[in-house]
Amino acid sequence: MSQMLDLSSPDGLSAVVDALAEKGWAVTRGLLPAETVARLREECLVAHRQGGFHVAGIGRGGDFTVREGIRSDEVMWLDASTATPTQRQYFERLDALQREINQGLYLGLFEFEGHFAIYDEGAYYKKHLDAFRGDKGRVVTVVYYLNPDWHLGDGGELRLYLDEKGETDFIDIEPTAGTAVIFLSERFWHEVLPSCKDRVSITGWYKVRPV
Ligand code: OGA
Ligand code: MN
Repeated sequence: MSQMLDLSSPDGLSAVVDALAEKGWAVTRGLLPAETVARLREECLVAHRQGGFHVAGIGRGGDFTVREGIRSDEVMWLDASTATPTQRQYFERLDALQREINQGLYLGLFEFEGHFAIYDEGAYYKKHLDAFRGDKGRVVTVVYYLNPDWHLGDGGELRLYLDEKGETDFIDIEPTAGTAVIFLSERFWHEVLPSCKDRVSITGWYKVRPV
């Protein structure tokens, strides 16, 4: 992808802020070193084998509902207070990005919450918004991919619709290890196309303080 921003460079984070200001989304690489990405994947798979995952639903806490047919991934929420050193590295980078976004865009991002997600072969997530207008929770979505070998034909692309209605204009992003996609949660319709093999990621949201 030609518009891929490099977060390992010193001005990488500010380039994301500029992209969010100009178009509302960014596709990046280099948030963490490749070894750290590999360890995140391993921790995700171990937690999955140990039974730490549950079928994904829509909403969280009391609002949680499983709606058959919308999505078929499994998730495990991350907890900053019990995070492994590797997971803490991820949270630290996300903190740095949060500060940069708040300084540049005054979005008042307050916290990040996220989960590991595993899409088994055939799993998908139909077209949706992560937040609805007027819902003051999720403001910025960050999806981070942990799949070392992803090839054309493996499916599982993130289809990000660029037009307001989410109908005509889209880009497809492969879930390749180290790619992070960042976008305004209430602005962009998106979907995960059916995956032809296991697909591992961390999805999360920067949120504003609840009122
Ligand atoms: C989500 C989501 C996208 C992806 O979990 O809300 O849209 O590429 N994930 O995994
Ligand atoms: Mn989503």
